[in-house]
Amino acid sequence: MITIGVNYIGGPGHDSAAAIAVDGKLEFAIAEERLSRKKQDASFPIQAIQACLDYKGIKIEEVDELVFGWPELKEHYANSLKLNIMGRLHENIPMQALNYFRSLTTRNIKTFLDSYGINPKKITHLDHHLAHAWSVAPYLTAEDSLIFIIDGRGIKESTTVYLKKGMKLEMIKRINFPNSLGVYYAEMTSMCGFRKYSDEWKVMGLAPFGKNSFDLSHLLHTENGIHHVDHKTLLNVEQLELNGKTITRPENDEIAIQDEDLRDLAHSAQNQYEKALCEFVKFYTDKYKIKSIGMAGGVGLNCKANGFLMRELSLEEFFIQPAATDDGTAIGAALYPFAENGSLKKSVFRPYLGREYSDEVIEATLKKYRLSYTKIKNVEVDAAQELANNKIIGWFQGRDEFGPRALGNRSIISNPGTSEMKDKVNEVVKYREGWRPFAPSMLQEEAEKVLKNIKSSPYMILTDYANEEYAPKIPAVVHVDGTLRPQTVDKEMNPRYWNLINEFYKISGIPVVMNTSFNLKGEPNVCHPTDAVRTFFTSGLELLYIGDYKVKK
Ligand SMILES: [Fe+2]
Repeated sequence: MITIGVNYIGGPGHDSAAAIAVDGKLEFAIAEERLSRKKQDASFPIQAIQACLDYKGIKIEEVDELVFGWPELKEHYANSLKLNIMGRLHENIPMQALNYFRSLTTRNIKTFLDSYGINPKKITHLDHHLAHAWSVAPYLTAEDSLIFIIDGRGIKESTTVYLKKGMKLEMIKRINFPNSLGVYYAEMTSMCGFRKYSDEWKVMGLAPFGKNSFDLSHLLHTENGIHHVDHKTLLNVEQLELNGKTITRPENDEIAIQDEDLRDLAHSAQNQYEKALCEFVKFYTDKYKIKSIGMAGGVGLNCKANGFLMRELSLEEFFIQPAATDDGTAIGAALYPFAENGSLKKSVFRPYLGREYSDEVIEATLKKYRLSYTKIKNVEVDAAQELANNKIIGWFQGRDEFGPRALGNRSIISNPGTSEMKDKVNEVVKYREGWRPFAPSMLQEEAEKVLKNIKSSPYMILTDYANEEYAPKIPAVVHVDGTLRPQTVDKEMNPRYWNLINEFYKISGIPVVMNTSFNLKGEPNVCHPTDAVRTFFTSGLELLYIGDYKVKK
């Protein structure tokens, strides 16, 4: 049986994506943004669906079920209209009414599919959080686990807790919007001058520069397994009265790092979030006496809070779907029919789910642009030497990663041994705020030397503290508070990337490289060799290793 899962909810959505599974095995997944080159593209993922079909060399008629990670559009628009009429959302009501009307007539999934000539045998619509949950469940190793789905909003829901027994899910708690942890964090993001539902990670990066000066417990707290968000104060907030101070939302995001109150607000907001989340999760882990948890939903990308949870609750297992935002629902949707018929099995999640390009395609691209390149026998050895020479390299290998993190297949790599390297990468390649941290990739076997608490973190989704004696060796990837956001690289999961780091280790004595996504500010990560070449030549990147080829400027 072949299934395709789709994330698409129209205008208010983000990260449209598609994934394909065959007999319960996830084979391919890609976000529309990687193909359309529009960051977080919310349009109907026709290119992603076509990429799934191309991967298998099949036509849509051969797909048994097309499964959407959302209910039908009319349910979403009906609920949005209701929330606006009730004053719980502050959007344009006539526009919402029009959207609802359109969803009943022309703007629905059937008309979209018809317009693209897609007539699958069967279409299924899922509860949104259930689609998130199935993107997690098969990747938990314990028989009994708890799965926490936390995002801004599904249709009505903002948080759902599932009890997983074997491969069965039972919903044990649901909390509805606007009591939403996603709303709390998004509004705090906005109060710091950043874009909400987009720049949340900047608050995480800013927080360590501030102090816990503000008591935000009136805006968010947890009681008896329910989080309480003061949405009346927070929705579209422009100003907050805190500890006798008036904090006003700044006009732009450049002020935050210079303003002590905003730095303290970021710190306090993160701190309160970690506290409330931890109490929330602990209520259920205590009640069910379970130490294995899974997580998805956009809030799952808060790697600082995830690291805090891992340490505070001494979790035995903590799997966070790396594609935690709505792109991941394409995976859950593709796997759902197999969960339903009882054929879904446990497996190890591999994030390298996208497209791979042959040497022929790569060389044709390099020739097309008349580039100076050489074919190299062992690119890992050559690249490691260049890293040791402090060169910043583009590293384009194997299959594209699914989810927001570059995990060594579409990455910009550099030497973490000096703090100047962080500034250099920021200034000449990423063109982003100098205070934001970069992440390390390290050999799994050496992780215990570098990290204080966690032993493994293959998807770069937890923070930990660096061992004090190791931190001075890798200053470019240790944040101001001594934390880092590691990727532990497993030899079997990504042999070429593991070899690169190992070769660098042999030369430098450091089993760690600095890794950031292979993109320019505001763009999606590169996907096709052409994207890599364009990014290489429009940035200060010094070398490009693409497949077996080395490209110089
Ligand atoms: Fe979601």
